[in-house]
Amino acid sequence: MRLEHLKYLRCPKSGVELHLFDAVMENDHVKSGQLLTRSGFTYPIVNFIPRFVDADNYAANFGFEWQVHARTQFDADANHKMSEERVFGVSGWDRELEGQVILEAGSGSGRFTEHLLGTGAMVVSFDYSQAVEPNYASNGGHDNLLLVQANIYEMPFVQASFDKVFCFGVLQHTPDPHASFLALTRMLKPGAKLATDIYLKTFKRYYLNTRYWVRPFTRTMDPQKLYRLCKGWINLMWPLARVIRRIPRVGEAINWRLLIADYSTQMPDADDATLKEWAYLDTFDMLSPRFDIPQTPETFQRWHEEAGLENIDVRLGPNGVVGTANRPED
Ligand SMILES: C[S@@+](CC[C@H](N)C(=O)[O-])C[C@H]1O[C@@H](n2cnc3c(N)ncnc32)[C@H](O)[C@@H]1O
Repeated sequence: MRLEHLKYLRCPKSGVELHLFDAVMENDHVKSGQLLTRSGFTYPIVNFIPRFVDADNYAANFGFEWQVHARTQFDADANHKMSEERVFGVSGWDRELEGQVILEAGSGSGRFTEHLLGTGAMVVSFDYSQAVEPNYASNGGHDNLLLVQANIYEMPFVQASFDKVFCFGVLQHTPDPHASFLALTRMLKPGAKLATDIYLKTFKRYYLNTRYWVRPFTRTMDPQKLYRLCKGWINLMWPLARVIRRIPRVGEAINWRLLIADYSTQMPDADDATLKEWAYLDTFDMLSPRFDIPQTPETFQRWHEEAGLENIDVRLGPNGVVGTANRPED
């Protein structure tokens, strides 16, 4: 964390300003220290990252996943532009946003963070899990990044202070996606823009989807054990999966039903090793989340309307249902 970024932080319990004590600096960044309120709330800065939550929480599986696969989904490492295209294609935001402040919720390993930073905006990013560690390793060198470990239900920021709020791949993994969505809308300045997505709920995708039958048994498993099982399953099935995916129209879908995350259509230029790496990651990602609560487009639309947003555009997108909108000007 940089000293000048203290102004973006507030006590998540009381909403008041925080004061920095016992700071240990390294290359203009606060490596460790304590953030205190006058009334006695204390939050440590550990490894350059302010921590507003306990290390052990329901998102620990994600922390594990993103530490094992810190760079797997980064565009540069996978040699494609999937994340970049998702950020700008879905949000419709400009690629030059210098002078603006973006809030990114649930940043995981930071594959979207790097593209938000690329706009020149100040990016305030957070995740509930230890995924903040790999994100910091990839993006922590940017002077315009403030990365913290925090909970979407108790965000340590000034309400109604952001020009843009971004949250992809997260809402369905929170215990109450509607409450999480509303919490994000409260961070928008008048006139500010929101871009979010959520898994799609349809009869086929939900009730006929193997992952939702298996997940009740796997979501409480020790993550290391589950990851070993997923990897073993992919290794065993991979030769067959490569044959199945050649079946016209339905091959890839069959693989997903067999719990093999198959990205061969989405990443046609990827080599076999890359596809396998993504399969390890995303098969674990299907089976490990404590919460996975998809929504219909109608429900997502209603959430936007009830929040009083305008210019609402809810539609199907790369990862389910996507929504863009803005808070009305005062
Ligand atoms: C599937 S990952 C998506 C990460 C990233 N947005 C991406 O798409 O690559 C979901 C992320 O949401 C985070 N998350 C879950 N519940 C959260 C909460 N209550 N507050 C903040 N982040 C949360 C998890 O820790 C995890 O990193």
